[in-house]
Amino acid sequence: MEEEPRHLAELYRMAVLGRLTAKIVHEITTPAGSIRSNNEVLARSLDALGKLLSDATVKKCAPPAKALDILETLKNLAGVDKIACDRISAVVRGLKTYARVEEGELRKTNLNDLLRDTLKLAGVEFRNRVTLVEDFGEMPAVECYPQSLSQVFLNLLVNAGQAIEGEGQVTVRTRAENGWARISISDTGTGIAPEHRDRIFTPGFTTKPAGEGTGLGLVITREIVVDHHHGTITFESEPGRGTTFHARIPITHPRNRS
Ligand SMILES: Nc1ncnc2c1ncn2[C@@H]1O[C@H](COP(=O)(O)OP(=O)(O)OP(=O)(O)O)[C@@H](O)[C@H]1O
Ligand SMILES: [Mg+2]
Repeated sequence: MEEEPRHLAELYRMAVLGRLTAKIVHEITTPAGSIRSNNEVLARSLDALGKLLSDATVKKCAPPAKALDILETLKNLAGVDKIACDRISAVVRGLKTYARVEEGELRKTNLNDLLRDTLKLAGVEFRNRVTLVEDFGEMPAVECYPQSLSQVFLNLLVNAGQAIEGEGQVTVRTRAENGWARISISDTGTGIAPEHRDRIFTPGFTTKPAGEGTGLGLVITREIVVDHHHGTITFESEPGRGTTFHARIPITHPRNRS
């Protein structure tokens, strides 16, 4: 019986969530603030509109042009509110995918959907700074532990975002190849120094400032991909140009192969 990633992975996940929380709070506070202030304008406008309409009714004449202006304003506000609500839902949805604890079962999963959810959360890490390119291929459902894979994607995406100083690009590519699903995450960041290549999967190895990196992300990533999914994780990197990590997951988990 295969062990599900628990102790280390669980602790690490809590740490990452902790770090992301401040940014998530900001992501939610901004659209929530805009909804609140819109709501005040809405309430005032509805009062004014009500008065205009009841005056018009009393005088038995058509509603004045002002009423139509107010209606237009209300419509615009509703549009802004919708965008703000969508933004909040997207962040919360990503968070739910990532933070869900129950798991344990292999599940046939659409990896493109799983990536889309994870990207919503990762977007918090590099919004406005990093351009995201999605190049998703047709994918069969993959038998996997979706929760754990979401953690793999988030680790790789956060690393990609952190490797970019200033502005850059992260590309997420999915392909189905000969019974395998390949997920490739490329960045236009600093690249990995040749002398670090052999060490990046070592527990505790980090080149990031204290408090930012624990050096566990890739250890857990490898554990989930290789030990729990019988997949592979490889990378190519060119210092100064960027890095690509490839995770390959068998479409059918070996446990269920006849
Ligand atoms: N996309 C990347 N580009 C450049 N260097 C990378 C990339 N991904 C990983 N590395 C290097 O590998 C090291 C180990 O990565 P890992 O994710 O295990 O830990 P970390 O990111 O430093 O810290 P943590 O993930 O625990 O917050 C990083 O410190 C960095 O030097
Ligand atoms: Mg990391």
